[in-house]
Amino acid sequence: MRPMRRVWTAALATLLLACLARAETQGPFGIGRAATPAEIAGWNIDVGRDGSGLPPGSGTVSHGREVFAQQCVACHGDKGQGGVGDKLVGGAGTLATANPVRTVGSYWPYAPTLFDYIRRAMPQNAPQSLSNDDVYAVSAYILTLNGLLPADATLDARALAAIKMPNRDHFTGDPRPDVKEPACMSGC
Ligand code: HEC
Repeated sequence: MRPMRRVWTAALATLLLACLARAETQGPFGIGRAATPAEIAGWNIDVGRDGSGLPPGSGTVSHGREVFAQQCVACHGDKGQGGVGDKLVGGAGTLATANPVRTVGSYWPYAPTLFDYIRRAMPQNAPQSLSNDDVYAVSAYILTLNGLLPADATLDARALAAIKMPNRDHFTGDPRPDVKEPACMSGC
């Protein structure tokens, strides 16, 4: 073997051994580490349509009006009429017409989804920046704008899960095997 080739072979062998040694402690590819429970908890924030997974906390419609004014109106308009962001209010009775207006009030089948969506994705320029209490409050305000909650209401997990959205029963099931319930949340 030529001296240079011997050096390369030795270097490769050392690398291989190092990888194998790491693989023993870090899994088959020798990279990464197990996620900590705290990291998993940070991502594990889904809320079921029945309200399962909703966190403790609560918020009033009037506080929600303040949160909305500060964090949402720039994109959704002062009464949720829409702008850069979607229209959040109105559209009742339009879904079966030639010009359906799909909003939280007219279209969304389950109220707990509102909490999940806002906590996860809004305000769009700072997602996951609101406290749970603020998410309850601003959800309450949007539901009030849609006539689905009284203006003096306080929303918490139980109250949110108890709301029956107007369009709940108007989704059709997906007939394919193993899909038991309405599968579609938008654009279908
Ligand atoms: C920077 C602009 C912006 C801000 C601020 C913002 N949104 Fe949005 N929002 C959007 C856009 C854009 C969409 C549509 C996103 C999409 O379809 O992927 C949206 C979608 C939504 C929807 C879903 C509407 C639907 O029917 O699909 C809700 C609910 C919502 N926003 C609530 C809020 C709330 C509450 C706040 C304030 C805490 C907020 N948004 C702040 C831009 C914004």
